[in-house]
Formats: sequence, C-alpha cells, structure tokens
Amino acid sequence: MILETTYNSNNYPIIVEHNALEQLHQFIQGYKDIVLVVDATVNNTWSSALAFLTSEYDAHKVIIPSGESTKSLTFYAETIEALLSRQLTRDTCLIAIGGGATGDFTGFLAATLLRGVDFIQVPTTILAHDSSVGGKVGINSQHGKNLIGAFYRPKAVIYDLNFLSTLPFSEVLSGYAEVYKHALLNNEAAVREIEQQYSDATELKALDEIEYYLYKGIETKLNIILQDEKESNVRKYLNLGHTFGHAVEYTFKIPHGHAVMIGIIYQFIVSNQVLNQDFDIEHYIQYLQDLNYPLDIISQFEFDALYALMLKDKKNNQQGVQMVLLDGIGNPIVKHVDKSILLQSFELLVAHFKK
Ligand SMILES: NC(=O)c1ccc[n+]([C@@H]2O[C@H](COP(=O)([O-])OP(=O)(O)OC[C@H]3O[C@@H](n4cnc5c(N)ncnc54)[C@H](O)[C@@H]3O)[C@@H](O)[C@H]2O)c1
Repeated sequence: MILETTYNSNNYPIIVEHNALEQLHQFIQGYKDIVLVVDATVNNTWSSALAFLTSEYDAHKVIIPSGESTKSLTFYAETIEALLSRQLTRDTCLIAIGGGATGDFTGFLAATLLRGVDFIQVPTTILAHDSSVGGKVGINSQHGKNLIGAFYRPKAVIYDLNFLSTLPFSEVLSGYAEVYKHALLNNEAAVREIEQQYSDATELKALDEIEYYLYKGIETKLNIILQDEKESNVRKYLNLGHTFGHAVEYTFKIPHGHAVMIGIIYQFIVSNQVLNQDFDIEHYIQYLQDLNYPLDIISQFEFDALYALMLKDKKNNQQGVQMVLLDGIGNPIVKHVDKSILLQSFELLVAHFKK
C-alpha cells in the first residue's frame, strides 16, 4: 500500500508493505554519500537483510544504541562530529533504520548536518508508523522529552512490515498505543473494530490484519498533519494521551506507548470531569489489562513530580497545562485544565491501582 503526502511541494511517499525495503533503491540514486543510521538491536537481528545495503549502495553504516538513550545532546554531538570528519557534502542521504528513537534522532541529524541533507525513514516498529510520518524530528533535553528538534520532512518512508516479526511483545504493546490513539481520534466504529480485532494479548501478539490498522493510523495522521504541519492547531490532537504520558515516560523510563496508554486513561478521567463526558473508565482499564499492559507502576506515581513535568509540555500557554481531551470519541479538543482538576483526576486514576 502506498500513501503520499499532498503538500504544495516536497511531498513524499509512504510505502507500507512486506519487502518494501526492495524499493529503497529508487530513492537513493545519485547521492554522493549514503549513510545508514541503524538501531543496534535491529542491526543484530536483521544483519543479513541489511547487508546488501552496505555492499550494493556502498553505504557507510553508523550503529547507534537501541532506544531512547540515542536521543541525547551528548550522543548527537558525538555522531554529528564523526559524520563531519568524513568530509560529507550536502549531496548526502541519511537512512534511519529502527524505531521512533532512531527516526527522530536521524531526522534531527539530517536537519542540522550542513544545514540540512536528505533523509529516508525505514521504520521497524509498530510505533514508528506514527513517528516516521509528519516530519517531527528531535532529541530530548534534561528539561523534558523532544524539546530540541525541528520540522523536517523525509524524502520517503519505506515501511517494511517484515521487521515487525521480531518485535518483543512489550514493543508491540508500545506501538499499539499509537494505533489505538488513531482509532480514538477517528470515530466510535473504528474503536469498536480495533477492540474486537485485538481483544486480548493473544490476539494482539498474532498481529493479524496489522497492515490494515497501520494504514488506517497513517491515514488519520496524514489527514491531520496536512492541515497543520507545524502544530499550530489540529496537529495538537495527535498529542492525545501525551501530556501525562510524556511525564510518566520521562520519570519511569518505560516504553513510550505504555506511558501514552496510561496518559489516554488519565485523559478519559479528565474529560469526564471537565467536559461532563461519561467514559467508562473501568472498560478502558480492563481492556488494557486484557492486553497485558503493565499498569502496576501507576501505584508508584506522585502527583507533584508529574505535574512539574506536565507544566513543561510544549502545548501549554500562559494559562498553564493544555491537554487534548475527547469531547466524545472522534471529537478531540485542546483545553486548559486547572491544577485542582488534574490532581482530582490523578487521585481517581491511582485509586484504581491501590485497591
Ligand atoms: N516524531 C514523531 O512524530 C513521534 C511520534 C511518536 C513517537 N515518537 C518518538 O518515538 C520514540 C519511540 O519509538 P519506538 O517505540 O519505535 O522506540 P525505539 O526506537 O526506542 O524502539 C523500541 C525498541 O525496539 C527495538 N526494535 C526496533 N525495531 C525492532 C525490530 N524490528 N525487532 C526487534 N526489536 C526492535 C529497539 O532496539 C528498541 O529497543 C520515542 O522517542 C518518541 O518520542 C516520535
């Protein structure tokens, strides 16, 4: 399946299929240098599948640490200095092969190397159906997640679904959070459909029909980012679950999507308070338990520390915390939420896990 952005210029294709990697060659013709930036675990697990890239395209390979530790200023400085020592020119293409951390990091390298060189996303996780599309790239700061970055479009997204076969279940769960988020942003039918398809951990492990749900997720994201690339209005909706989720992820160093799922539950509770919604919190908690999300960590949460991090969220304004809430499934809005409501909702959330 192929999707394509529809900006006025600088569009890019998103190829979502098994063996998509075979199509990479058409996007890397004519560059003086090609640099593969590869997640260490992916490099080990998929060494033979990736070997042809270095030999056939005479590409230079940089192996980066797996996961979030890559997205640091220190590692960024080290990597960009190492690349610059190779006398690269602007006629260079970086290829990010890994999950969202690899894509965010490599995209930021590409945006800043010689004031910008081309890059291609080769996502290898479920979560990266989200992160590889939309051109947000960046690294973390000691003040919070993704606070150093740019909007910088890739030349192509080559999503080879073969990679998903080696994902540990914990990463399947992490990625599923963003797929589920996209269904919540769509409509009730989409949520019913996905909850039926992946009704428990066994069903989710099987990943049947995942191609369809990834496609739907990317389509939802595209509809939003094509209206608002730089997040001045509707793109904020994609942050559903992220205000609280980022604070949890940053504090407890758990996978991004595990934290986002907790953020989504928290958002339901806040929406019930602020928007007089009637979301069935027990249903959503039970669903996450059926999928085997590790939710016990919630009993360790402390409001003050998480609130301090929520205050650093990029969506905030002079009023304070701005959250994406659901005024009904498929109807997101961005709203200021007072500290007292945040605290009350927090206590309701934690109470479920201290029973
Ligand atoms: N730019 C955006 O729009 C955007 C959107 C959502 C999330 N993100 C970012 O994405 C990151 C999370 O992405 P992620 O969940 O893909 O995390 P990740 O890149 O850290 O990968 C998760 C783990 O899976 C391993 N892995 C990757 N592919 C594998 C494979 N095929 N087989 C086995 N193991 C594999 C990695 O080594 C890592 O340990 C966060 O940094 C988050 O901030 C960015």
